[in-house]
Amino acid sequence: MNGAGAAIEATRALTTVEPRARCSMIAGANALLRMKESTLPARERILHDAWAGRLIDDHWLLQSIRYARFTLPPLWRAIDELQTAHCVRHRSIDQLVLLAVAGGCKQVVVIGAGYDMRPSRFAARLEGVTWIELDLPGIGARKRELVDTMIDSNHHVERAGVDLMRESVLDALAATHFDRDEPACFVLEGLIHYLPRARVEALLSDLSSGSARREVIVSFIRTQVYESARGPLRWLVQLLGEIPRLHFAPRELEALAARHGFARFQSWTFDQQVTAFAPVARTRRVGCTQDVALLRDRA
Ligand SMILES: C[S@@+](CC[C@H](N)C(=O)[O-])C[C@H]1O[C@@H](n2cnc3c(N)ncnc32)[C@H](O)[C@@H]1O
Repeated sequence: MNGAGAAIEATRALTTVEPRARCSMIAGANALLRMKESTLPARERILHDAWAGRLIDDHWLLQSIRYARFTLPPLWRAIDELQTAHCVRHRSIDQLVLLAVAGGCKQVVVIGAGYDMRPSRFAARLEGVTWIELDLPGIGARKRELVDTMIDSNHHVERAGVDLMRESVLDALAATHFDRDEPACFVLEGLIHYLPRARVEALLSDLSSGSARREVIVSFIRTQVYESARGPLRWLVQLLGEIPRLHFAPRELEALAARHGFARFQSWTFDQQVTAFAPVARTRRVGCTQDVALLRDRA
């Protein structure tokens, strides 16, 4: 099945869930950062996401962050730096996804999709692409509720619920039109540091199954960055209540990926992401960042 003809039926896994249950505050915060970036003049911004502002949850904490930054300069600085870090990473992953699609991956599966709006942002370039989003059922249902009200968004997205702490991504995909015999690109953005190592191993093992070509685009926290995080950022993350646990040296992630059949590994530090994908950010200040890696099972 291609994207244009996709029946939006994978929502069956989401329909029984109370929409506000277990929503990710950081997914909402990321939408806030993309919204803020999108207000910059075209020549200065890293990316444009016309839908982000409509996806920010009305939770008091996100709204406080949205407005308190004007009165608390250290918080303001920390949020500006987070905005740059997030948007450079998002933009880098944009480019890697578009390259994977151009290279023949006509299925894109975004795991832990949050409020990612790539199918709408790149609608014209995703003709014939099956786009599937997986996330915790609460956030998937909440997103569907919000996106359904947007007449200008791309509705050709299948969504299914999965809790990676205890469920298999293959079982979740079995409820969608995912075709195991066709090439696929998987996106794991801002996700793996919330999982125990054993669950990341299980996830990569699932993703490498099947005989068709697989590409995985993943962001991760480098150990050095994890250990140096302090100040308003640490406080903010604790306040949002989603504390990253897992971090990697690039070589360690490369070895883990290789154990699950992803023999080809390429990664980009923040500076390398700026050079390769987002040169407009080269004069911006930044604090903690995530690396981005591309895992492939063949050349
Ligand atoms: C930091 S947000 C990133 C959202 C989006 N990818 C982005 O970069 O804006 C992490 C996402 O992972 C999802 N997530 C966290 N734990 C999960 C789990 N156990 N199973 C499935 N999704 C999970 C959250 O619901 C959330 O959408």
